Amino acid sequence: MSACKILDMRIMEFKLTRRRFLIGSLAAAVGIAVDMSIIEPRWLSLARVDVALPGGRLARPITILHISDLHASLHVPIAFIRRAIELGIAQEPDLACITGDMISGRIPDRQDYVDSLSLLSAACPCFACVGNHDGGRWAGRRGGHKDLREIRRLMEDSGITLLFNRSELVTIGETAVELVGLGDLWARDAHPELALMGETPQATRIVLSHNPDSKELVKDYAWDLMLCGHTHGGQISLPFLGAPLVPVRDRRYVYGLNQWQDRLIYTTSGVGNAKGLRLNCRPEIAILTLS
Ligand SMILES: [Fe+2]
Repeated sequence: MSACKILDMRIMEFKLTRRRFLIGSLAAAVGIAVDMSIIEPRWLSLARVDVALPGGRLARPITILHISDLHASLHVPIAFIRRAIELGIAQEPDLACITGDMISGRIPDRQDYVDSLSLLSAACPCFACVGNHDGGRWAGRRGGHKDLREIRRLMEDSGITLLFNRSELVTIGETAVELVGLGDLWARDAHPELALMGETPQATRIVLSHNPDSKELVKDYAWDLMLCGHTHGGQISLPFLGAPLVPVRDRRYVYGLNQWQDRLIYTTSGVGNAKGLRLNCRPEIAILTLS
């Protein structure tokens, strides 16, 4: 074979390899785009977490349905949120806690949303704290609600108790649980001196706080477990690099059950999302079994 022919064959092979590489890269890019915008944002998971609380104040194990960051919006349809709520109710929790970002500005189908949330409050006692998107200084500056009137009305119409810098005592069987709701950290509405004043020593104290960074604010108060959202679990998690955009200072509490000093913090990846995207970070509801 002549040298010219060999060179021609090599060029042809190179062109074929390059074409295959380009087609493969394009297919991978389309696959990732479909996954992060269509598949993963609706690929709901159920996290089951055992939480061993020190102190031994529980008469029996209690189960908490922890839901967060619903972000009802054009990106997160009410039908999807309803599916998450129905999955949570099917686990027959003793109580339900929502840790903020119920809305992202205007609610697209308010009555549908109220009907869905009402399913939850009809199934078990249900408590919520606010997130940065629910209203206040932070949301107001970004086109959202300047105050909490809308979220207060939504919770009231849905039969959910909104805890804004205050607490409530619930009794589950023989066990007393004090639920404390903090205002949002970014809205500069978190006031632990109001929320955590007084104490019921025999009760297990659970703080609902949207942003896990707010743990620093409540470090001098007594509590057992803090439930948080806000991070969306990272929302976009890249292989080897992890989540590049996480809206917290302390990245140790982006997801899952973690110890902090002698207490525990659970951060959920949440049900909804921002901008309709998720990658390597599925939406979830969590069932926490406290023992
Ligand atoms: Fe959020």
